[in-house]
Amino acid sequence: MKLANLSAVVTGGASGLGLACARQLVARGVFVVIADQSDQHGSAAAAELGASARFVHADVRDTEQMNAVYDAAEALAPLRVLIHCAGVGGPLRLVEKDGQPGSLEKFEAILRINLTGTFNSLRLAAARMARNEPVDGERGACVLTASVAAYEGQIGQIPYAASKAGVVGMTIVAARDLAQRLIRVCTIAPGIFDTPLLARLPEPVRASLGAAVPHPARLGQPDEFALTALHILENPMLNGETIRLDGAIRMTPR
Ligand SMILES: NC(=O)c1ccc[n+]([C@@H]2O[C@H](COP(=O)([O-])OP(=O)(O)OC[C@H]3O[C@@H](n4cnc5c(N)ncnc54)[C@H](O)[C@@H]3O)[C@@H](O)[C@H]2O)c1
Repeated sequence: MKLANLSAVVTGGASGLGLACARQLVARGVFVVIADQSDQHGSAAAAELGASARFVHADVRDTEQMNAVYDAAEALAPLRVLIHCAGVGGPLRLVEKDGQPGSLEKFEAILRINLTGTFNSLRLAAARMARNEPVDGERGACVLTASVAAYEGQIGQIPYAASKAGVVGMTIVAARDLAQRLIRVCTIAPGIFDTPLLARLPEPVRASLGAAVPHPARLGQPDEFALTALHILENPMLNGETIRLDGAIRMTPR
């Protein structure tokens, strides 16, 4: 897909990996709507990105709010791109330290944001994209975000790993489902990236996380994630695939 005359929605675009994608899309002349539940970071991001970007407060679980996001994008230019980065982590054990079973409510809350939120964002975007005139044989392209935890979830990551494995599982089905509508769907499974999510960790922990990556032995940069996302958008042969972006790291049990 040529990144011209179109709008893109970036969920979770107020921070980290999503913000890097929004920056690179704007630099390429794409109109961008950031959908995020953080008003403070979303407004700051839109101000930084300038006239071709908007921020719309939205929770990816909320259909009405996400429809307002897509309305805002379509008001700028045809919506042909979704980059879905919104997501959260949260520790949970099957049996907690006090011997009690892990919280069902916590499990479901993370599944609802990471997995149901992905389905919600994707279904609403795809229905809009399906109405676009095809350009070079395509109506749209969507990039979802999983994690290497989908394959090697660490102890304490059970809801996160399950939700991200769900995103990986949905990728080929979504691509098949939307093929007749000329819309592609791929997923990126990042390893460890240097975003505000990780900035909260003490420096020695960040350094040891980086050192655990075989090569390059450092944390990934958000711009490297954005590079892959934009490549997926531009390469019409990429579809239905989850790409690990992780410097060859394979996570240990803890
Ligand atoms: N940083 C990493 O190392 C890493 C590794 C693997 C996967 N990921 C995944 O990449 C994605 C982006 O992570 P990041 O590191 O940039 O995190 P981040 O915390 O910097 O950004 C995530 C953004 O999503 C937003 N968000 C959270 N829940 C939302 C909701 N319900 N509705 C709308 N917005 C919501 C947050 O407000 C935030 O701005 C997440 O899905 C995360 O699971 C990150």
